[in-house]
Amino acid sequence: RRFMSYTHVLVTRPEPAVALITLNRPKALNALSSPLFSELNQALQVVDADDAVGAIVLTGSDKAFAAGADIKEMQDKTYANVFKNRFLEDWTLLSKIRKPIIAAVSGYALGGGCELALMCDIILASPTAKFGQPEINLGVIPGGGGSQRLAQIVGKSRTMEMVLTGRTISAQEAERWGMVSRVVGDGEGQVVKEAVEMANTIASKSQIAVQAAKEVVNAAYELNLAEGLHFERRIFYGLFATNDQKEGMAAFTEKRKPEFTHS
Ligand code: CAA
Repeated sequence: RRFMSYTHVLVTRPEPAVALITLNRPKALNALSSPLFSELNQALQVVDADDAVGAIVLTGSDKAFAAGADIKEMQDKTYANVFKNRFLEDWTLLSKIRKPIIAAVSGYALGGGCELALMCDIILASPTAKFGQPEINLGVIPGGGGSQRLAQIVGKSRTMEMVLTGRTISAQEAERWGMVSRVVGDGEGQVVKEAVEMANTIASKSQIAVQAAKEVVNAAYELNLAEGLHFERRIFYGLFATNDQKEGMAAFTEKRKPEFTHS
């Protein structure tokens, strides 16, 4: 069911509590143009603000999650132009979304496409997924966080290899390196199906606890250990002020399923 219409992204609700955002520039392998990103950001803000949505899945097509920033759009840009217009700065909105975002990646996730997947909270990959930072072949470097996020996730040597040679890595390699949580079964659409199921599981929990959990895990990438542990405990204490904590623990004691009210 489509509930809002955009040109470059499709937003559907495969489950009442799950929003599925599909990048939809198939002819350009979902190259991430400015109009596409602006629609993606709008769609993300709409679903983040929708109380009925508990988790989000972001996907592309079978052939391409996204083949990177739009090279044809970038080609004639000047330094002054990208500097003054803060080119790519709006990409950071995705990392400010409170609800969990699962990337379901099939086919190419290159350059900005790989970076977009890395900004999501969980990456599920189909066996056809290919990840890479090929910007070096274009005379530039990653600009959407790839060098930083990859270094945090897969370490220096692997990041240097990807960023300096532009080599594309397979789904299996990405799994071994810890970039993706799992490679899921064969077949068209299977990775999206599994991502939606995972999102639905997350959406069945207390939204407040889920969003708090996402916030504290992300803090591990920003804070040092002492600060992170302190932050986690404070947020944990705070959850005792919610009805969902009372409900979750009462349900356990009464041996029944919790009915969270997200309050
Ligand atoms: N930008 C603009 N258009 C793109 C694109 C991109 N990143 N990637 C693919 N396309 C377009 C192609 O130009 C082509 O359009 P036309 O039919 O009009 O010629 C169409 O999509 C299909 O692509 P191909 O014919 O190239 O398909 P293929 O199957 O032969 O190859 C591919 C697939 C290996 C992914 C190849 O398209 C490719 O190398 N794409 C570019 C990948 C890349 O360099 N990405 C990094 C971009 S820079 C960046 O992202 C900066 C950053 O950090 C933010």
